Amino acid sequence: MRDDLDSAGEYFDDGSLFVPIDPLSINPDYLTDFALFERNETKDGKYRFRCLLKDSSSIPKQRLIGLLRAWDTVYIHKNQSQNYTEYVKNNLEFILKHDEIDNRKKTETLIQLSTEVVKEAFQINFASGRECQNMVENIQHLISQAIDYISSIASLGGVADLAGHDYETHTHSIKVGWLTATFINCNQDLFPVSTKQTVKEFMIQATVAGFLHDIGKVKIPKNVINKPGKLNNLEYVIIQAHTAYSTSLLFETRLPRSFMQMILYHHENEDGSGYPRGLRRDHIPVLAKVCHIIDVFDALTSRRPYKPAKTPFEALRIMAGENPYLETLQKFEAEARENKRVPVTAIVRDDYEAKLKRLREREMLEEEAQKRVEARMRLRDKGMSHCFDKDLLKRFILTINRSDNFDLSGLL
Ligand SMILES: [Fe+2]
Repeated sequence: MRDDLDSAGEYFDDGSLFVPIDPLSINPDYLTDFALFERNETKDGKYRFRCLLKDSSSIPKQRLIGLLRAWDTVYIHKNQSQNYTEYVKNNLEFILKHDEIDNRKKTETLIQLSTEVVKEAFQINFASGRECQNMVENIQHLISQAIDYISSIASLGGVADLAGHDYETHTHSIKVGWLTATFINCNQDLFPVSTKQTVKEFMIQATVAGFLHDIGKVKIPKNVINKPGKLNNLEYVIIQAHTAYSTSLLFETRLPRSFMQMILYHHENEDGSGYPRGLRRDHIPVLAKVCHIIDVFDALTSRRPYKPAKTPFEALRIMAGENPYLETLQKFEAEARENKRVPVTAIVRDDYEAKLKRLREREMLEEEAQKRVEARMRLRDKGMSHCFDKDLLKRFILTINRSDNFDLSGLL
């Protein structure tokens, strides 16, 4: 126990100094370095926190197992919450495999730890190769403990619960990794891996790539990333650079080539209208196609400042739907990609009238460009089947449909 905790092990407090934890999250085989407290109400409306266990080395294992089952909620002192977080990180596999801990709690723990490592990843100094490698290893360590859980259909309820929330890069990245793991697990025939161990290793690496697929966004200006409205054409071109940035930032890590390609090509469309290279069909690696489907699915089912979230059913109907305005949409998309400037035809003269005219023309051009962006977004939502591999999209729908938490009846 830390010196700043009362050695008598008793506190009177309004509750703000203690946090509740689930006693089942304590692994009897792994020593704790934090104290556990029970909470009782006192007459003056405060609480008395009494130390139940200073650390788990002071008690026989069988006795500890009995107590952990008997206790309901226990508390830890806030000064030791970092010790507890580290403990959970090192015992994540134990928690996720525990039969008596419910899935909601498992998901909460997993999301909390994953968010922490992904947030850290977005803040490291990429100029340091060592720091970058450490970051990837941290994520690998976390995912390797969680892979059996996140690749199981039973865990999909956790992803389903997150649908409809605000779009947020960290959560989005975690969901993409999670759904990628589940997809690979349910569609192993698609991937060239054989033994159980290599399948597991493959799923871990793919999940790491899913967690980091948008890491290149750290290089995109904040006012473009966080823009509350729709992006104009120039901003759209700038944001497209994130796939190359992601690959470049991870270049010196030991992430295998196929997972680097998954990241680089996760915005390629089946018909060649995607980026960065405009690859078509068989030229797009399968992992990148899967990542693309999951990426769009999650983006559509998340809420944006300028549009509400779609339900999983609506999102998949759009993704699988043929677009009746495909030609017009492609024209707008090509325009956005090339970021062409429509020439100003006014004769430039150095007088007031001409200046006014030029200003008005520029305004009109900007208004027109913005209208086209909006039209492109509207048209895109009429059907996106040209963006995806039909077989893979069907497999994705079948995969998540295996969970009761996604109501997709009538879609297939
Ligand atoms: Fe992306």
